[in-house]
Amino acid sequence: MTEDTKALKIEAARAALANVEPGMKLGLGTGSTSEEFVRLLATRVAEGLEIVGVPTSIRTETLCRELGVPLTTLDETPELDLTVDGADEIGPGLALVKGGGGALLREKIVAAASRRMIVIADESKLVEALGRFPLPIEVNAFGLRATMLAIEAAGRRFGLTGEIRLRMADGKPFVTDGGHHIVDASFGRIPATRAFADELNAIPGVVEHGLFIGLASLAILAGRDGIRTIDA
Ligand code: 5RP
Repeated sequence: MTEDTKALKIEAARAALANVEPGMKLGLGTGSTSEEFVRLLATRVAEGLEIVGVPTSIRTETLCRELGVPLTTLDETPELDLTVDGADEIGPGLALVKGGGGALLREKIVAAASRRMIVIADESKLVEALGRFPLPIEVNAFGLRATMLAIEAAGRRFGLTGEIRLRMADGKPFVTDGGHHIVDASFGRIPATRAFADELNAIPGVVEHGLFIGLASLAILAGRDGIRTIDA
């Protein structure tokens, strides 16, 4: 990541922080942009801001603990005021592709439990159609090959072809915080429709996919010309 991109991520995170009010229950996203948000939030917490956060990954949880951000769980606090998270792609209607960091399952559960979700990103994440970034799909390890074939077939039913790849890390299948694997589907242009989302969710081995439809309420995008916001 260039220094410029990092600076833009920090600007987007800073703008999102203006939406945080005392007493809020927050969902805390995963990834480099969310990390900048957590760092800025921690500074405000150190100054006396009272909030509580639900992290969307072990990585975010660890960072929050290091920085002294108070945490809770969704079991203790099942309804949240606001989630702030990054995205791999932001498309029309604020449909998102998420999961580049492998945290999509917890990210989606937390976003769905929140009254509002603000997506923060540098402007390169804004796209006219989703799909340049391969769609991450979290799958159960059991029957992996059959599940991958079923994902391929689901894509074909929507006119989509492309490589379906098991995500690897250090020569082994990547393992999510939930103990599952990730399949990255390079379908090309993804239809951001509930029909396609439902088709993927109907495959028994699919735990969840990274297509987020109707969850984000606001996008905060930082670019060279400043901050731009897009409402859902
Ligand atoms: C993790 C995610 C991230 O939000 C997404 O990958 C964006 O990451 P970054 O802010 O590092 O660009 O979905 O699962």
